[in-house]
Formats: sequence, structure tokens, C-alpha cells
Amino acid sequence: MIRTLHRWPGLLALALVTILSLSGAALSVFPAVERITAPQVETGQTVATLADRIQAVYPGVEQIRRSPSGRITAYWFDQGAPGAAVIDPATGAGVASADPNQALRWLTNFHRSLFLGDGGRIAMAAGAAAMLVLSLSGAMLVARRAGGWRHWFASLRGPFAGRLHVEIARIAVIGLVLSSTTALWMTASTFDLLPDGGVLPTDPTEVSGEIGFALDQMATLLQTPVAELRELSFPYPGDATDVFTLKTDRGTGYLDQGTGALVAWADLTGWERVSETIYMLHTGQGAATLGLVLGMMALGVPAMGVTGVLIWFAGRRGRPRIRGNQPAGRAETILLVGSEGGSTWGFAATLHASLTVAGQGVHVGPMSGFAPERYARAERIIVLAATYGDGAAPASAKGFLDRLNALDGAPDIPMAVLGFGDRSFPAYCAFAKDVAAAAQAKDWPELLPLDAIDRQSPQDFARWGRALGEALSISLELSHQPVSPRTETLTLVSRRNYGAEMQAGAAILRFALPRATLWQRLTGAGFARFQAGDLIGVLPQGSAVPRLYSLASGRRGLCCKVFLMRSLSSVVRQESGCHERFQRASFHG
Ligand SMILES: Cc1cc2nc3c(=O)[nH]c(=O)nc-3n(C[C@H](O)[C@H](O)[C@H](O)COP(=O)(O)O)c2cc1C
Repeated sequence: MIRTLHRWPGLLALALVTILSLSGAALSVFPAVERITAPQVETGQTVATLADRIQAVYPGVEQIRRSPSGRITAYWFDQGAPGAAVIDPATGAGVASADPNQALRWLTNFHRSLFLGDGGRIAMAAGAAAMLVLSLSGAMLVARRAGGWRHWFASLRGPFAGRLHVEIARIAVIGLVLSSTTALWMTASTFDLLPDGGVLPTDPTEVSGEIGFALDQMATLLQTPVAELRELSFPYPGDATDVFTLKTDRGTGYLDQGTGALVAWADLTGWERVSETIYMLHTGQGAATLGLVLGMMALGVPAMGVTGVLIWFAGRRGRPRIRGNQPAGRAETILLVGSEGGSTWGFAATLHASLTVAGQGVHVGPMSGFAPERYARAERIIVLAATYGDGAAPASAKGFLDRLNALDGAPDIPMAVLGFGDRSFPAYCAFAKDVAAAAQAKDWPELLPLDAIDRQSPQDFARWGRALGEALSISLELSHQPVSPRTETLTLVSRRNYGAEMQAGAAILRFALPRATLWQRLTGAGFARFQAGDLIGVLPQGSAVPRLYSLASGRRGLCCKVFLMRSLSSVVRQESGCHERFQRASFHG
């Protein structure tokens, strides 16, 4: 369910979220540049001093604005002609053009609405909603894959694209949740869906009717530091009934131009404050460093988009399609799969198909998604669990044991565990045994005793199927056709035999590595990277189950060496601690 929630918004909104994040990342640079280039205000400088200095240089000044980055801009009229400049607060004189930055304006419009007005705004809001759904569902998937929230930064195994996707996600997710929620808030504000409009003070009924009170003597301006200023608008020249309008971080007020007295004031409302904080968090205006950090996190989105699509393709290739998979809440039989290489999913698909033909509603899912509270109509749970490393859990079973151990009591649904393993490993089906032991410790009712399938044997599986059929009082013939793994042909360059005289025959086979094309290198589709101690899977003719051999050389680009001992199991046993990665191949030569 969570995976579906992650996959489809991701694939459908990929272009939109990529546009949003790239343009957002580019926009995040502007507040930082403005912050660095804006002339700095002396500490403690008041609005009274600033306004006085500016008026001395530009007597026709009609407005002074301070941007969240601290940049001061003045607007004035000089002999009927409007003028504007970025001001140096130390002198009150203009130091740079106040013309808006065209690139910033273009990017902002693009980011907000794709230049499509309200329709574009709604589309971009949909993109932000998709980003939020992706971030939250992605966070749950990361926690599930890592084996719980406490293991958020646990090291990862598996193909490069998957690891990179998760590595980026676990850092970027906070920024993406923040950016997408603030974007949705801002859209709601733009469409007036929030009561965050500004409240102005009531118009003053009585003013002195005088003009010309000195700016640097006005008490309110003397008490207001420039750091709090947003805007100071001057009265219309010659209109003695008009007032100064002062906007600060705290609110808006009117000042009498004849006495300097504050004649009206309105504080910012709570909604306005929240909206302004959200605006700051989203744009980085007033929080340039945060903006840059969020921008960097947004750059992870295109990378996660590409790796996400690669994972999706790999998943489609690696797992059999399970037709008619029932939702967990409606199924009578729950099949939980613990797999690393994917072959156990094939067994699960065969079992699913046979049980479905027998008239049952069956749900197949990964062991990591174990959630007994969702199995409302389940009558049995069947766990198909492979073993990896030295008896460790495979990738799709991460967190299962933790979750089972954390339960107050076992579910009242009978369970069967079927282990998939290889007898040549010392910890034969150890993970399945751990699961069965944990279930027993919780007094979980048993449907069938623990059983094991050695080297993906279809015969073992058919035998177990008959036992399951008996337990369910149905006839169950499981005819599993293993899918041959993808192979690559290697050319044998040399062979050296050792130890025949000591009855301990071994051969060192040296193979040339296949040349990877540039495209294969870029997409990681060529021969997998390896190091000494990794395992290579060799497919004997006529078999779909690879035999594993230990690699003796880790030199890339030239060749690899393979120990070929008379007793394969002894090789695997020696190397069983370090065989996380392996490459399947068929040898010719
Ligand atoms: C690197 C590696 C490590 C393995 N470790 C064990 C092990 O410790 N115990 C075991 O019984 N089987 C082990 N196996 C065998 C697998 O559990 C077995 O082939 C299983 O059917 C694979 O299922 P999967 O393709 O769904 O992951 C290992 C296989 C590989 C490739």
C-alpha cells in the first residue's frame, strides 16, 4: 500500500516535481547573494536616522523599504520624475540600481505558475502535494527497509540505484517535507483560503494639521531599529491631513507629520505571523542559510527521480507479476516473503496462483510489511523466508523480527514458516529458524511445522505443498518452474590445477572480464563490481539454480580468478562471512 502510494505519484508527477525542485534550488541562491551584497546597517541604527539621511539626499523621498535580506531601497520623485535606488544606510545615498533582477523574476514566475496564471499555480500546488506524499511515504519505506525508525541511518545493502535513492532520501526528506508543506500553505494563502490577510489600523480621525516635524525627532522612529523595518511611506507632499505609514515586524502604525506622534497602531495577527514565518521558511528570505540548505536538499529530487525509475524497472524485471493479489484486509491467506535475490518471490507467486485456483483470497507482501492488525479476515499466515549472510535476514524481511518481538501477543491466526536456503552454508535456513523460534516464544499457533527448501528445489516445494494441502483439506499440487537468472558469458583465459596428488583438487580459473559499453557504465548495467571474497554464481547447464564460487581476486578491468575446489561446500564455508554481492554467470571456454 505504502509502496503503491510512493510509486504512482512519483512516476506520474516526476516531471512536475523535478521542475519544482530545480527551479526552487536555483531560487534559493538569490536571498543568499542579496544578503551578502546588501550594504550592512550599523548595529542599533534607528529608522529615524536612516529616514533622515535618505531625506537629506533625496528630498522627494516617498517610500523606504527594507527587504528580509536587509537591503534598503528608497523611492522618490525628483521634479516630477520617479527614481529608485538601493541605499547605503551609512550615508543615505544610492549605491546600486533598484531595478528588479530579471532572472529572479522569470524564475519566480516559472516556479509559482509555469507562466500559466491560476491554472499553473494549481498545477504547481498539485506537484507540491505529490512531493509531500512522496516524502512521507518514502520516509516510511526507508524506516521499513532499515528495520525501524531507530535504524534510520543503518548501512544499506543491495543494488547501487536503490542504495543511492535511500541515502539521498534520508537526508533530503526533512527539507522536502518542509518545502512542500510551506508551498501548499502559500498557495492556500494566495487563493484567500486562509484568514491571514493583513489588518490595518483604523484611519486616524484627528491629526494636527501641521507638517514638517523633523524625522530624526519622531519618538516612534527613534524607538524602531532598522532591523525591524519593513516599510516607511511618506505623506503626500502638501497634504497636511495625510500621515506617515510605518510597517515593522510587529505591526502597522500611522504617525502625525506635524507632531511625530503615533496616532494609530495595529499588531500583526497570529495568522499573519504564521504565514510570514512560512513564507520565510519557503523562500529563504530572511533565512538565507536555511534557504540554501533547502535548495541543496531539493537538488536530491532529480537524482531520486532517476534512481526511483531505475528501481521501478529493476523491480518489474526481478519479481514475478502476481495477478489478482488481494488487499491484506480482505485475504484469507497472507503470504509473507523474505527474499534478497528475488527467487523466493517466484515460489510465492506459484503458491499464490495455486491457492487462488483453490478458491482462496491470497495476499502476497514482503515480510518487512508485517502488520497483523491489517489482516482482518486472515485464517492463516505463511512465511516464506530465505537466509543471507551468516544466517541474517534478507532485504525484504528487514524489521520483521523486531516487530514480532514487540507484539504483546502473537496474532490468533495459525502460521507456517518455510525456509529457503542452501545446505552448503553453515547457518542453513537460520533466519527461518529464528522466525519460527520467535513465533513459538510468543505461543503463535502453528499451522505446519517449520520446513526448509534446499537450493530452490521444486521437488522440496511440491512435497511441502502437499503437506500444506492436507492441513487445509484441499488438494494442492505446487508445480514451480524456476526462472533462469540473467547470465553473462565469460571467456576462460587460463586454468591451473593444484593439489590433485594430495586428494584436494583445486583449480584456479582466470577469466577475461567482458568489456562494458559507455552506456552500461553510466547505467551500472554492465558486469557488477566485485572484490575478493564476493561470490560468483555459475549456472550449470540445464539448471536454473546457480552454484556459488568464491572470487579470489578483486582487480577490476583485467580478469577475475575463481577457486574451483572439488568440494564446493568447503569454498562457500570459508567465505560465508563476506558474500554480500555476487554475479551470476555461465562459463564458456
Ligand atoms: C550471498 C548469499 C548468502 C547466503 N547465505 C545463506 C545462509 O547463510 N544460509 C542459507 O541457508 N542459505 C544462504 N544462501 C542461500 C539463499 O538463502 C537461497 O539461495 C535462497 O533460495 C535465495 O532466495 P532469494 O533469491 O529469494 O533471496 C545464501 C545465498 C547467497 C547468494
